[in-house]
Amino acid sequence: MKFATKTIHAGQPSEPETGALVAPIFQTSTYEQEEPGRDKGFSYSRTNNPTRQRLEEVLAALEGVPFAAAFASGLAAENAVLQAYLRPGDEVIIPLDVYGGTYRILNKVYQPIGIVVRQIETGDLDAVQAAIGKKTRLVWIESPTNPRLLINDIAAISKLAHASGALVVVDNTFATPYFQQPFQLGADIVVHSVTKYLAGHSDTIQGAALAKDPSVFEPIKFLQNATGAVPSPFDCWLTLRGIKTLELRMQRHEENATAIANALNGHPLVKRVYFPGLANHPGHAIAQRQMSGFGGMVSFELNGTKEEVVEFASSRTFFALGESLGGVKALICHPATMTHASIPAEARAELGLSDALLRLSPGCESADDLVEDLLNGLAQLERLRSSKTAIPATAQ
Ligand SMILES: Cc1ncc(COP(=O)(O)O)c(C=O)c1O
Repeated sequence: MKFATKTIHAGQPSEPETGALVAPIFQTSTYEQEEPGRDKGFSYSRTNNPTRQRLEEVLAALEGVPFAAAFASGLAAENAVLQAYLRPGDEVIIPLDVYGGTYRILNKVYQPIGIVVRQIETGDLDAVQAAIGKKTRLVWIESPTNPRLLINDIAAISKLAHASGALVVVDNTFATPYFQQPFQLGADIVVHSVTKYLAGHSDTIQGAALAKDPSVFEPIKFLQNATGAVPSPFDCWLTLRGIKTLELRMQRHEENATAIANALNGHPLVKRVYFPGLANHPGHAIAQRQMSGFGGMVSFELNGTKEEVVEFASSRTFFALGESLGGVKALICHPATMTHASIPAEARAELGLSDALLRLSPGCESADDLVEDLLNGLAQLERLRSSKTAIPATAQ
């Protein structure tokens, strides 16, 4: 079965009792048993629910593995993986450019209970090799990273990690299984903020953790029920609806991101564009090898003051200023004050997260409108600057 067919058919047969083409939302907390201990596969909805099961089946099919567990948020999924695998004294390696929430949970929740967090440039394989030691339990990578869209070599990092018995976790939120299949590259666990492209419509918060090996998956599955951060049946249904158009949406997101990256690249008011599809992106060659497309996100540094950056971000017509990404409606975000504000300013500077960085999540709008909106903002900034430097008429 090909990718788009899976998004529509995997785990989603018509409902057997009525023939309903779209499965109902099984909005129930519990299930009637035939006799004590004999049920029809469902006993309590924290443990399992038919709507959630359908979602887990399609997610597993898309990532090409047998096992997926859905969670109430991406961070709940991350937490289940961290809780399953980290014990005091263990070490975890994360990228410099990691998602702010991953940085926060590791530094504020896990580090205080004795986990050693090593944040390194995971794009540099020598640095990865040097950081991996006997105590390394997890090597956690994102590719593309958030927000600078840097590329990590998943196959090479997996080889290094496996050589010393560590597990590789890939946050595949930005690429989605449409553009990147981390298990084929050697990953042991994949996590998702389902909230983003998989659900696709900015109307739900959800997460998932997947594995190919039953023994790797089992402790995560156990924690899904034991700690209980499960999504509601309605939220699962929303994602089942959204995921059916994943391929179409990702194609449009990438088209729009490419048009925007090309329009911004080289503009005098733009210092730097981060998009793995640009030939000047440092991870372009690896992205070409390990992805089937370059994703739908673009970040760029404006050549301007923090005030100008904030004004630009706040006054776009089609890019709503908001956290999150991956929906059909375009978003713009200022990581330094929004998604990555939990990273202290000095740490942000060390990590290369400039205050002038803006992250764009082009939606499924027409590329022309999105590009025009951004170019209008840059032209407006140019006009504002020249009006400030112009000699007032009365002084002439
Ligand atoms: C790359 C990445 N991973 C994980 C998360 C966390 O997901 P959630 O917000 O669904 O908890 C996010 C959220 O922005 C993210 O961007």
